Amino acid sequence: MQRLSSLSLHALLPLFTTLSLLKVIVAEEGFCSWSSISDSSSNSKHLYWKVTNPTLSPSHLQDLPGFTRSVYKRDHALITPESHVFSPLPEWKNTLGAYLITPAIGSHFVMYLAKMQETSLSGLPAYNVERFVFVVQGAVTLTNASGASHKLMVDSYAYLPPNFEHLLKCDESATLVVLERRYASLENHFTELIVGSTDQQPILETPGEVFELRKLLPVSIAYDFNVHIMDFQPGEYLNVKEVHYNQHGLLLLEGKGIYRLGDSWYPVQAGDAIWMAPFVPQWYAALGKTRTRYFLYKDANRDPL
Ligand SMILES: *[C@@H]1O[C@H](CO)[C@@H](O)[C@H](O)[C@H]1NC(C)=O
Repeated sequence: MQRLSSLSLHALLPLFTTLSLLKVIVAEEGFCSWSSISDSSSNSKHLYWKVTNPTLSPSHLQDLPGFTRSVYKRDHALITPESHVFSPLPEWKNTLGAYLITPAIGSHFVMYLAKMQETSLSGLPAYNVERFVFVVQGAVTLTNASGASHKLMVDSYAYLPPNFEHLLKCDESATLVVLERRYASLENHFTELIVGSTDQQPILETPGEVFELRKLLPVSIAYDFNVHIMDFQPGEYLNVKEVHYNQHGLLLLEGKGIYRLGDSWYPVQAGDAIWMAPFVPQWYAALGKTRTRYFLYKDANRDPL
């Protein structure tokens, strides 16, 4: 009996070998077709290209009904690209917008993505509302009321003071992340038009922390918020497990890692947006092989009382 079974095993061995070879070929073909899908959907790899070409983009998730990494809780939300819902932006022309954070979630600001094309034009924010735009794809031209213009490329931004007349136009296509909030004015302090780009901003001291910090707006008291650009090398993480009164809107521009929000730990990657309510415990660790860079709204310079 024993002899017989070992004999039959020997006879079966070539079959097993062929089967496992087949498996490898099938797996490789699967891999090839996956990479050809992502190659064709990302024609040029500009800075921050992962924001508009995320690994788990909606087209790759068609076979997973109901799957999303998005989460909505009392004190935080994770909004991932497969959950974005774009519709025409009120006041803008031929522009699609996806509101990621609005006061309905508990914030005092809005954060949205605006997708512009050749015929798009921006509208003006409501009375006393200030606006911040940051280009993540394409380019736009910002024009003021006397016709002076600035071209904003990827990584460029503009702060528009409340009631500042302006127009954003786009040559081909552009994706912007836009912040707006009702300006909390102070007597005798006024904000100004600011145009810049991240790479022109100095890296600031962050005692006790390893990440690189840049602030896109002046720290002077006239400004009631700032936008921080934070860079982490793989393996770097926040030292302080922050809990604070400020609120945050975050857009991951590059890289991936783990975000802790309250008692939950989320794998996140470029393209993901996060809402952090005041006092939600928050912490980030960068993973993978490339740096993480994120864009972060933070209210500042106002008495919380
Ligand atoms: C528009 O920008 C130009 C150039 O910076 C400036 O001289 C002009 O005063 C601005 N006009 C308005 C209405 O802000």
